[in-house]
Amino acid sequence: MGVGSALPEHVVTNDMLSGFLDTSDEWITTRTGIKERRVVTTETLAELSATAAKRALAMAGIEAAQLSYILCATTSADYAIPSLACQVQQMLGASCPAMDVNAACTGFLYALDMADALFARDPNARVLVIGAEAMSRLVEWNDRSTAVLFGDGAGALVLGPGSDLKSMLVTAAGDPDPLYARHANGNSPYAVKRERAPLRMDGHAVYRFAVPTIVRDVSAAIARAGMTEDDIDAVLLHQANLRIVDAAAQRLNIPRDKFKTNIQSRGNTSAASIPILMDELQREGHLPQGSVLALAAFGGGLTTGACVLAWGVS
Ligand code: ACO
Repeated sequence: MGVGSALPEHVVTNDMLSGFLDTSDEWITTRTGIKERRVVTTETLAELSATAAKRALAMAGIEAAQLSYILCATTSADYAIPSLACQVQQMLGASCPAMDVNAACTGFLYALDMADALFARDPNARVLVIGAEAMSRLVEWNDRSTAVLFGDGAGALVLGPGSDLKSMLVTAAGDPDPLYARHANGNSPYAVKRERAPLRMDGHAVYRFAVPTIVRDVSAAIARAGMTEDDIDAVLLHQANLRIVDAAAQRLNIPRDKFKTNIQSRGNTSAASIPILMDELQREGHLPQGSVLALAAFGGGLTTGACVLAWGVS
């Protein structure tokens, strides 16, 4: 019914990073496609999420009071308690149940899957699904292998009754080693001391995992929808790395120009990347109502998700 997004004001270019990291615009651009990203300074993730949600609600033409549920996909909320979703609920003046979903970069697809289940219970529901991340809080800013990859932001969708979701699949293969960020265990006198670990990633392992699973999941989602590659108008992949998008496009029987990207200016915003991309495409007029979209994501867990949907926003 509606889509919205919000980004922090502060733009961090590759050249700004090379001011304090042993890196270069040339390395980052050729390895990832990223030229710049947004990073939170004074903004909270709840503020960005609420702004994205208000834009989506305005486009949907409904009030926050009409929402049946709020699901926030995030790994980097402002608080451990309460959930980001409860912060957003308060800021919107909504009164519905609200909770967070953590499936790392696949979180937005997982939240859509949960929303689908809510519609099975109440076909007239109105569900707000948000993907929001402040990855700048999780990365180690001295680690050039991860600090250059990520960005912050929020995207939101308002979902209403209908049959636009054509297929959905999500997977998990529990394995923390390739990609993790670990909490410290506080000052419990009983626990063996465990330090916080900022985001660590085995880039090669993630790359090797990402490309075949995107191809597998997109193909399966299209088949489950009873469609073929020719029926797909646009492919919105999790914006992790332009080379991953290119490699997946080469292996799928879908023209490269149908693969939409904004990683060049947004970086990898984890669970927020697909809804931010959706909003930008919608506002630039690139998603006509009725377009058939294939979405796919992968991330820590390891998790993956893909779906096919008909774009309902006019
Ligand atoms: N600037 C300059 N040099 C760098 C940087 C940097 N920012 N980072 C690493 N290097 C160096 C390395 O130290 C290494 O140097 P060495 O050869 O002297 O040891 C060299 O560059 C090559 O490093 P590689 O890791 O082999 O670089 P690669 O070409 O594989 O690119 C990358 C790294 C971009 C991370 C790639 O592996 C990748 O895209 N992996 C997928 C990761 C990903 O998409 N993660 C996000 C998805 S998961 C999620 O969204 C939560």
